[in-house]
Amino acid sequence: MLKKVFIKTFGCQMNEYDSSKMQDVLNQSHESSKTENPEEADLIILNTCSVREKAEEKIYSHLGEYEMLKKTNPNLLIAIGGCVASQEGENILKRAPFVDLIFGPQTLHRLPNLVNKRKLTGSTQVDISFPEIEKFDHLPAPCFSGASALVSIIEGCSKYCSFCVVPYTRGEEISRPFEDILAETIHLASLGAKEITFLGQNVNAYRSFTKNGTPADLALLIEYISEIDTIERIKFTTSHPNEMSDNLIECFGKFPKLAAHLHLPIQSGSDRILAAMKRNYTVLEYKNIIKKLKRNCPQICISSDFIVGFPNETDKDFDLTKKIIEEVKFDFSFSFLYSARPGTPATYIHDEIPYDVKLKRLNEIQLINKAQGKAISHLMLGSKQRILIDGQSWRNPTEMAGKTDNNRVVDIRVDKTFMNQFVDVRITEVTSKRLRGEII
Ligand code: SAM
Ligand code: F3S
Repeated sequence: MLKKVFIKTFGCQMNEYDSSKMQDVLNQSHESSKTENPEEADLIILNTCSVREKAEEKIYSHLGEYEMLKKTNPNLLIAIGGCVASQEGENILKRAPFVDLIFGPQTLHRLPNLVNKRKLTGSTQVDISFPEIEKFDHLPAPCFSGASALVSIIEGCSKYCSFCVVPYTRGEEISRPFEDILAETIHLASLGAKEITFLGQNVNAYRSFTKNGTPADLALLIEYISEIDTIERIKFTTSHPNEMSDNLIECFGKFPKLAAHLHLPIQSGSDRILAAMKRNYTVLEYKNIIKKLKRNCPQICISSDFIVGFPNETDKDFDLTKKIIEEVKFDFSFSFLYSARPGTPATYIHDEIPYDVKLKRLNEIQLINKAQGKAISHLMLGSKQRILIDGQSWRNPTEMAGKTDNNRVVDIRVDKTFMNQFVDVRITEVTSKRLRGEII
């Protein structure tokens, strides 16, 4: 028996998605339900992220907290899933011998078996293999409520950027069958989903075939999903610049349901650093993609990830990153301090740049990104926006709030009956990330 499961999720949307799948498999196999309180759980799962060292360290501090709960509840099981599990495997037991289950992102569907085996044998169960796409054949139909649904279409990454651990923790890129994705999306739409976000570490690397044998890519998926009447908005994340085919670029502007927003990480504005990162594109090539996107969809907002302090990044390299931000006019973007990840090629580069210089650059780029995002918010004043109302307003509980294509929260004076509805609004007030609108 497993009555209550508590899942703590670290990291990206992909991990959020995986956590919901863990809950789904356990609901089906063990009739368990979700709890937000670790103290009443029979199983605590930490779904982890190892993209940066800080994220990894957080996990061990949480584990200490949960170990205490085993004293009051000896039947409590503690599981580590996700990328840290995949990277560290049994080594986790050296630091945390009380952990009962260790499983990777590609073996989460085996969780019910792992739980049963742990109960039967009393010994820690470890399964961090990469059994291709088997996972999706063993997942139950998703439980879903609300209006915004996530659908994973491609797992893993085969790009091997020199700084990144993901190809080693999640395995190589494997696309799900086209018809399976259509079936899942139609099922979610029947449960009330109005907004679909396709997910993948490199979502635009999606390649498969239709049942007639025609090659299928993300552009074709968008075209098919656009035909589902009740789906009103389509998004996808995260995209890699090298996979931005002309077909996909043309979807912006061609399919009105496709949100006019794209997260397209450039990482650096210096060709020298991009080459050392093994990103396989130049700044000029990146700018060319943006030019084509803006030609098709002039209102498109582009956001990015930046890594600051990559080994031997000079002031000149950093200036080039600031220059590209200014040129592209990115929307709110993410910037990270380079974190050396075990086993990745970049860790072998001898680095001369002092830590405090890197930190200064990080602060600077974060301020620039924030100012850039704010400037875009201000440009939205007076514009017409389509928002999906997804909850009460944080500022005033008698009002509701919804999100625009470019993820701005808009407060609006309507009641709860508007929950999970799309409405067109005119933006009447702008304060940083939060906007106010009136129904048109
Ligand atoms: N597939 C996406 C792309 O094309 O760039 C990136 C996915 S990655 C999991 C998310 C972000 O984490 C990256 O865009 C990068 O900025 C950041 N990241 C990855 N490895 C990192 C590292 N070692 N140090 C700092 N940031 C890192
Ligand atoms: Fe990581 Fe590069 Fe893939 S950042 S997820 S190896 S595209």
